[in-house]
Amino acid sequence: MPAKKIDIVTLHKMKGEGKPITMVTAYDTPTARLLDAAGVDTVLVGDSVGNVVLGYPDTLPVTMEQMLHHTRAVRRGLERALLIGDMPFMSYQADRAEAVRNAGRFLKEAGADAIKLEGGGPMVERVEAIVQAGIPVVGHLGLTPQSATLLGGYRVQGTDAASARRILDDALALQAAGAFLLVLECVPARLGELLSSRLDIPVIGIGAGSGCDGQVLVFHDLVGIEAGFKPKFVKRYTQAGAAMKLAVEQYCQEVRARAFPAPEHTFSIPEEEFQQLVKALPRE
Ligand code: KIV
Repeated sequence: MPAKKIDIVTLHKMKGEGKPITMVTAYDTPTARLLDAAGVDTVLVGDSVGNVVLGYPDTLPVTMEQMLHHTRAVRRGLERALLIGDMPFMSYQADRAEAVRNAGRFLKEAGADAIKLEGGGPMVERVEAIVQAGIPVVGHLGLTPQSATLLGGYRVQGTDAASARRILDDALALQAAGAFLLVLECVPARLGELLSSRLDIPVIGIGAGSGCDGQVLVFHDLVGIEAGFKPKFVKRYTQAGAAMKLAVEQYCQEVRARAFPAPEHTFSIPEEEFQQLVKALPRE
């Protein structure tokens, strides 16, 4: 029997029962299959695809078409987890109607269950319009990478009373606008805990402490695909990148030594059949 699909009601019930919610990013089908099989509750096709797999310096160049392409790939790998597509920079900021139309494309053209967008303040009105169009929305506050320059770089947010107050006000406004989940990035742990207790909707933290209703990590960070820069909030559960590099080095070594492919990786036909085949071939 297929596992019961996670929906918004399940996630809200989990918050009510104090059961932590898991979220991991994915950008392709095999990773989505792996996350689903591992029992992850929600999968986010983050615009982090830009810097994590497409080689951009940040998330800003990522386009709607790229997001839809990766969301479709993840859709094909998921049966149980709730799928969230991340709205890329300038797909919702400029215009309300454009925001609703682009949000709708994630559901209509890519099979997402919900969309995520960054920011409070003027973005609250966008969230309201998208929800009114019947599209489930996840908010994102704290360090919002699409506006990192404006926030003074990739730094912890909500460390003074004024900015903590702004985050709390924005979170309550997003909830009132109809957001069903909130991602909270890079804030002091006590603020993460406070927001989780003040909001009815689940708060999913990334660098927001263990008091949140759930946690999200970028898949490539979690499994250690790259050994370089590691933010404080990342825990590498394995060193997949090192294991993959070793495998490729061994492959190169074996190809160069003609040790690969071995007989078990090779197709063969009986010698007599081969001789007949050669006879039938034109001579040089
Ligand atoms: O784009 C992304 O992957 C995200 C998560 C880090 C929350 O927004």
